[in-house]
Amino acid sequence: MTAGPTREALDPARFLSNPSTGRMGYALAAEALARGAEVTLLSGPTHLSPPPGVNLVRVTTADEMFRAALNQAPGVDLVLKAAAVADYRPEERARRKIKKETLRRAALKRRGPDRAILLRLQPTPDILEELGRRKKPGQVLVGFAAETGDLETNALGKLRRKNLDLIVANRIGREGEGFEADTNRALVIDRDGRRSDLPIMTKEAMAGRILDLVEPLLAGGTGRARRRAGAPEEGAS
Ligand code: CTP
Repeated sequence: MTAGPTREALDPARFLSNPSTGRMGYALAAEALARGAEVTLLSGPTHLSPPPGVNLVRVTTADEMFRAALNQAPGVDLVLKAAAVADYRPEERARRKIKKETLRRAALKRRGPDRAILLRLQPTPDILEELGRRKKPGQVLVGFAAETGDLETNALGKLRRKNLDLIVANRIGREGEGFEADTNRALVIDRDGRRSDLPIMTKEAMAGRILDLVEPLLAGGTGRARRRAGAPEEGAS
């Protein structure tokens, strides 16, 4: 399970990031634990307390999350990739705080009327795409999509490009959905093109609905659902 934003530092005082709070990912981790799963949570910086019983791995940058995810993935049945990973990081990270005056002098040296400060960025690795390439037989890979444009077309593109089994697509930039909201609304599409529209609900409730859609994709998934309902495990007498 990955959750929260990543931070890409410019210097010790500044970073590039996004408004992800980690709440959807933490809710999914709590729900998976409640259903009897063993959960490792790779978390970017958040203010949330980890659900009791989770194996927490804290990371800050996309590169750190990439290494941690590649390290964990071979041993897991299910990957839920809710983290909002920064797609770009500054090309250089200054060891000391970049002073305003230094930037002003650099801008003044540039010819012409353009006094903009230029920031050079490098792409970060696409963690989910790499996990999709390395997916083991039987492993289930669930991605998320944060969109402002055509939700379905963009989500389907990511589902195919990243070799996912299921994608949970959210609209961002609207009240009550996506980043920083207590509630969420989502379009879920599986690898066979089946769609589920999940109406607005709390992120905790949505975690339950998402796992209800994921469980049938897992080998032995129905057994876990029964265990949650208090019925004996498969094979138990
Ligand atoms: N993701 C990832 N590594 C990245 C970027 C995204 O693993 N460097 C994962 C996210 O955790 C999410 C999914 O890919 O599960 C989609 O993320 P999103 O930000 O919606 O899309 P991008 O692939 O970054 O594409 P775009 O920015 O063009 O929408």
